[in-house]
Amino acid sequence: MVRMRRATTDDAPAIARVYVDTWRITYAGSLPDKVLLEMSPDIQAARWARAIERGREIVDVAEDETLDVGGSVIGVGSGGPNRQRGSSFAGEVYTLYVATDHQNQGIGKRLLRRLFEDLSAAGYNSAVIWVLADNPSRFFYEAMNGVRLGERTEEIWGTTLREIGYGWPDLSATMADWREKP
Ligand SMILES: CC(C)(COP(=O)(O)OP(=O)(O)OC[C@H]1O[C@@H](n2cnc3c(N)ncnc32)[C@H](O)[C@@H]1OP(=O)(O)O)[C@@H](O)C(=O)NCCC(=O)NCCS
Repeated sequence: MVRMRRATTDDAPAIARVYVDTWRITYAGSLPDKVLLEMSPDIQAARWARAIERGREIVDVAEDETLDVGGSVIGVGSGGPNRQRGSSFAGEVYTLYVATDHQNQGIGKRLLRRLFEDLSAAGYNSAVIWVLADNPSRFFYEAMNGVRLGERTEEIWGTTLREIGYGWPDLSATMADWREKP
């Protein structure tokens, strides 16, 4: 059985494994190989542990209770205040990753819902997410009723990345809609 819950610092190493593995697979060809190869699960684990401990961002995990202890985190999502100042969207989904072997089984949808619930409870009743334009996961956000907001480019790691923004202007309404039509 897979359940969604708030992350604890003990989850940090497992979150880092999911994060590094999915980055390497998802962004191969989009981000420089060097960046992907040099990603360190240990550094990521420390970063996630710090984020969870500080509590400034919401971190949720999907946990498969049938898997061994330590290997049971199969998805991670995080969010918090919108990093773009002046936006009419209060919240932002910073990350959403489901381990490759567990994709297309409805887990991303459940994790996004949990993140929306937690964002809304924290006072952010609208949210955006920025996705790389050549990442097919953007169709996932369209399937999740995200409204296409526009595009932006970011200069990072010596590459220009094109991103597409999706928004949900009223998370309470989105969640009510999903409860009616699961
Ligand atoms: C994007 C991601 C989070 C989606 O999670 P998932 O568990 O695979 O998706 P789900 O099984 O919950 O899919 C939910 C719905 O979206 C649709 N969907 C999912 N991925 C899709 C895609 N690439 N294209 C079109 N539709 C898609 C599913 O068909 C499903 O539709 P339904 O509700 O009508 O059955 C996951 O695939 C992932 O982690 N991908 C790699 C990392 C990534 O790109 N993350 C996003 C960047 S922040």
